Amino acid sequence: MPRTLASAASHDQTPSARQPLRSANVLLNVIDHPLVAHKLTKLRNEATDSPTFRRLTEELVTLLAYEATRGVRTVPAQIRTPLAEASGVHLASPTPLVVPILRAGLGMLEGMTRLLPTAEVGFLGLVRDEQTLQATTYASRLPDDLSGRQCYLLDPMLATGGTLASAIHFLADRHAAEVTAICLLAAPEGLARLDRETQQLQLPFTVVTAAVDVGLDERAYIVPGLGDAGDRLYGSAGSH
Ligand code: URA
Repeated sequence: MPRTLASAASHDQTPSARQPLRSANVLLNVIDHPLVAHKLTKLRNEATDSPTFRRLTEELVTLLAYEATRGVRTVPAQIRTPLAEASGVHLASPTPLVVPILRAGLGMLEGMTRLLPTAEVGFLGLVRDEQTLQATTYASRLPDDLSGRQCYLLDPMLATGGTLASAIHFLADRHAAEVTAICLLAAPEGLARLDRETQQLQLPFTVVTAAVDVGLDERAYIVPGLGDAGDRLYGSAGSH
């Protein structure tokens, strides 16, 4: 049964909590798979070191990407096997665009391109001001025209939703056809904000995540979460 984003915001592990959830605007897909849960548990563990954290992030993203690309567009194709003619599909043109949000989204790129090696990759640098919690763009490398493109945003932590909301508007301004955000974890507050801030956009928008956590703490960190994803991937150089 379809559920609202608000009612999905919990550690509710019942099967029905893991169905795609549609709000007014955002389709939320919390992936129910034992390997996803297993890898996420290891990622959450504060004892997991950086090299292991990076490897697990890649593996987890590949699993999430498998679901996130369920709607990737294909065209029919006729090929010849060593034995006979066969019908199949190829990915349609234009190819999907993968956009990691710098810095922590970079840790998700390898896991995504393993599944979609022919995808084009753009980059978006957004930084969250820790005082105001507003996101500002400091770098972008994307095609000006995204007409007809299926876009996959990579951002490990959907916390306040400010960064992803800015990124979606950035892609919508370039006429992206649809946007799917792949996040390791999401907070209910961020999902609700995304829903509010994307209402005016005529843009199908999906969030695929391994879990929706309890909520945000006073510093806007996800609880229980996994800490600072960028720091756990790359260390804390330059952040203090
Ligand atoms: N960014 C992170 O890296 N972790 C959080 O919990 C929230 C935002």
